Amino acid sequence: MVQSPCTDKQVYVQASKRSPILLRLVVLFCATLFGLYICYICLQQIRTRVYFKYDLLGPNILATREQCNISALPHGERLYAHYPKPKTYSRGGCLCNPVRFFAILSMQRSGSGWFETFLNSHHNVSSNGEIFSVKDRRKNISEVFYTLDKVFNLDWSSSAAKNECSAAVGLKWMLNQGILKYHEEIVEYFKHRGVSTIFLFRRNLLRRMVSILANAYDRDVKQLNGTHKSHVHSQTEAEVLAQYKPRINVTSLILDLKKAEDMAANAVKYFKSTRHIILYYEDLVSNRTKLMDVQDFLSIPQRDLISHQVKIHTRPLSAQVENWDDVYKVLKGSKYENFLEEEGPPI
Ligand SMILES: *[C@@H]1O[C@H](CO)[C@@H](O)[C@H](O)[C@H]1NC(C)=O
Ligand SMILES: *[C@@H]1O[C@H](CO)[C@@H](O)[C@H](O)[C@H]1NC(C)=O
Ligand SMILES: *[C@@H]1O[C@H](CO)[C@@H](O)[C@H](O)[C@H]1NC(C)=O
Ligand SMILES: *[C@@H]1O[C@H](CO)[C@@H](O)[C@H](O)[C@H]1NC(C)=O
Ligand SMILES: *[C@@H]1O[C@H](CO)[C@@H](O)[C@H](O)[C@H]1NC(C)=O
Ligand SMILES: *[C@@H]1O[C@H](CO)[C@@H](O)[C@H](O)[C@H]1NC(C)=O
Repeated sequence: MVQSPCTDKQVYVQASKRSPILLRLVVLFCATLFGLYICYICLQQIRTRVYFKYDLLGPNILATREQCNISALPHGERLYAHYPKPKTYSRGGCLCNPVRFFAILSMQRSGSGWFETFLNSHHNVSSNGEIFSVKDRRKNISEVFYTLDKVFNLDWSSSAAKNECSAAVGLKWMLNQGILKYHEEIVEYFKHRGVSTIFLFRRNLLRRMVSILANAYDRDVKQLNGTHKSHVHSQTEAEVLAQYKPRINVTSLILDLKKAEDMAANAVKYFKSTRHIILYYEDLVSNRTKLMDVQDFLSIPQRDLISHQVKIHTRPLSAQVENWDDVYKVLKGSKYENFLEEEGPPI
């Protein structure tokens, strides 16, 4: 009788000596799980709130729509034809000209700058450049929407803005500038606001890599009289920049190519439910008729578009890569073999 509390105590002490670690781990695990669950719920709610904060067609846009006679528009076009009413100026005589919204989704060194100069040579197109290269504009989804609203309401000022008589307005947007991160919200925005997607990719990702390395080198060295240029307008300038032959890291080459390929594939997967067109840089280079397809896609009057940019790397790849032999060995027989083009083995 006297012993029992003592034994109890012993048992208790022994138990509490053996199990605390296990017990604490279990408690910790449960607490973590619960914490993660709470975080998940919170995030879901924030997302939903962001969705609904966004107003389908702003009051400005609706007001103009009523003023204009939209009965001439085919039904399928109505989601994509907009009548913005800019806050900063009046569209004047072009008030009732419908405007299409677009976004060029692309990757660095895939010809999007060149493509954009073509678009902007059309007197009814305002492609406002790489707006989201500025980090603050993509630090959260509200900032992204705020910026997009401003662009599509024709309130964004840039050298490309045609203002009152724009019939198509948009921007150039790199996949690593928040698109993949916020893809759900952006796809939702594109679908609700009738934004069309223009994918622009480069087929030969090895050539793209050469261009990236050469561009990075010029950013440091500034070969053209101390000025860094990503795009050039004369043959002389192009020749200076093309003289540099980068070394490609063959250890990470396959993986680097795969990463770029996956990025493009993911973008298409996410955005394929928006109205879209897929373009390849190589096709645009060899066939300018593709530019007519783009103008039809944007429902703008067809024009002969021009660009004054000059291609930098025009030589065969073998003459543009410092360690071509190694690159050739790594890619030969791999799934990226076709990037080597029709060049024979190195001699
Ligand atoms: C609107 O456009 C349609 C088709 O072009 C035309 O038949 C109609 O008269 C127009 N209505 C007004 C109010 O201008
Ligand atoms: C986004 O960033 C802006 C500017 O820093 C801030 O005012 C706003 O509250 C942020 N919005 C969200 C949803 O985090
Ligand atoms: C294109 O712009 C011109 C003025 O530069 C304007 O007269 C014309 O109506 C516009 N076309 C379209 C389709 O908006
Ligand atoms: C560099 O500047 C000189 C003198 O201003 C000019 O003659 C030359 O064409 C420039 N070179 C390049 C590559 O721009
Ligand atoms: C090449 O890539 C590998 C793997 O990513 C890396 O460890 C190595 O440092 C790179 N070499 C150079 C010269 O950058
Ligand atoms: C050039 O592009 C147009 C429009 O996409 C296409 O119809 C035509 O077949 C292409 N021509 C060649 C030679 O590929």
